[in-house]
Amino acid sequence: MAAADRDPTEPWWKAAVVYQIYPRSFADADGDGVGDLQGIRSKLPHLEWLGVDALWLSPFYRSPMADFGYDVSDYCDVDPIFGTLADFDELVADAHARGIRVIVDWVPNHTSDQHPWFVESRSSRESAKRDWYVWRDRTPDGAPPNNWVQTWTDGEPAWTVDPQTDQWYLHLFLPEQPDLNWRNPEVRAAMADVLRFWLDRGVDGFRMDVLHALGKDPDLADDPAELIPIPHSALNHHESTHEIVRELRSVLEEYDGDRMMVAEIFLLDTELVASYYDGGAGVHLAFNFPPLFAPWAARPWAVRIDEVARMIEPQGWPSWVLSNHDQPRHRTRYGSEARARAAAVLLLGLKGTPFLYAGEELGLEDAVVPEDRVVDPGGRDGCRAPIPWTVEGDHGWGRAEGLDTPWLPWPPDAAERSAEALRADEGSILHLYRRLLAARRASTALRLGDQAMVDAPDDVLAWDRTGAGGDRRRVIVNFGSSTVDVSTLVEGWAVEVASADGALGTDGALAADAAVLLRPT
Ligand code: GLC
Repeated sequence: MAAADRDPTEPWWKAAVVYQIYPRSFADADGDGVGDLQGIRSKLPHLEWLGVDALWLSPFYRSPMADFGYDVSDYCDVDPIFGTLADFDELVADAHARGIRVIVDWVPNHTSDQHPWFVESRSSRESAKRDWYVWRDRTPDGAPPNNWVQTWTDGEPAWTVDPQTDQWYLHLFLPEQPDLNWRNPEVRAAMADVLRFWLDRGVDGFRMDVLHALGKDPDLADDPAELIPIPHSALNHHESTHEIVRELRSVLEEYDGDRMMVAEIFLLDTELVASYYDGGAGVHLAFNFPPLFAPWAARPWAVRIDEVARMIEPQGWPSWVLSNHDQPRHRTRYGSEARARAAAVLLLGLKGTPFLYAGEELGLEDAVVPEDRVVDPGGRDGCRAPIPWTVEGDHGWGRAEGLDTPWLPWPPDAAERSAEALRADEGSILHLYRRLLAARRASTALRLGDQAMVDAPDDVLAWDRTGAGGDRRRVIVNFGSSTVDVSTLVEGWAVEVASADGALGTDGALAADAAVLLRPT
């Protein structure tokens, strides 16, 4: 059944499972050791087999790659390293033909310092684009305009003096990523046109980068001294962003087909994240990162799940994510494959839209990156290691110039964890993800149903999902390192998917670091 027919009265993104692709690291069609759009296209049959509903593509736009694509120098073109606009059109057409939606990354807070807008803005204080960025005069004491700290570098100011005009410019990220001035209506109009450019090409929505950073305090007041050196990008929260979000939403609504936005709100406070839903007038979905930072333990997860129910649900539909291109993979954080498997049941059993990060379905760990191979100023190379596709040789990749591997080293056990090896093994984590995705597709309770926690022993979380027509599922997760008796919780239920063979004994004992998805008997 096509996705659209499953839940005709609901927007597609509520029931979808979204799969994040980091294009540099996903698949390499031209053999240069860096992934590309034709590489992604060549893997669509595999993604359809896996059962994902939508792809989120991290940036593939023209970029000097100071932040590997999150520093955009042309929002409306494909960087030659990834291919061409024609390749993009083919990718979208092929994905749509397979019933897979495509959402793309939109990076509105900053451009590259090579973007023609910034080149013009920095050329003179009188430039017509001067006000498109945030410029401030030098003061006699030489201190930056405020105490904001940039991201990743240890406590460095979020300001750089540009020698051409002897003023500071603001950059919440690298100096190569100057912040746009969203108070300027021309900036808003130009960036709305970028959305239209991709909407016209048929994208189904956008992942909006650091959306909470757009509206800034007009006085650029200092951050509280006790919070320094937390980067300002993790603290910025200003009323004016809500109006910007409503405007962006109206651009999406110029188009039919439930075009959507999912916002990166990197504020580690679920109440604040909830505010960006704006009671239904704001974002369709927001990433809520506190659960990603919760340790593998029942109590912290119970707190996070409860917060989402109390704070996000009154405002909108939740989303869940365990890994992405900015954080160590959860397989690495949690420390074992058993936990990564149980986490898959957790993620795909919760109420809300799950986001998978390419490679988690292979149980990949972060690569260990030797110092001479480090390329990211933010220390994020490990989770961006290339996806191993085949067992032999270069695992389906070419080699980067002068290297005997692609642009980053392989993750551990690349041959054993390749898609080819795991597809051949019915008991693998890859098949577990496939079974879980199939179970979601088949159950309205899992896709869209309500959620109610059920009393459970220490170390265990259990909840019920209840959907239209009386459809019901139960999820039980044992976060502990010992077997737990859950016999009273499984009475009247049968295992639909287990995180590992024999996770639930016939005596009702749930193994350590194991989880089950149950359906009524
Ligand atoms: C977001 C992205 C991250 C990027 C940063 C600046 O946090 O996820 O990868 O470096 O924004 O654009």
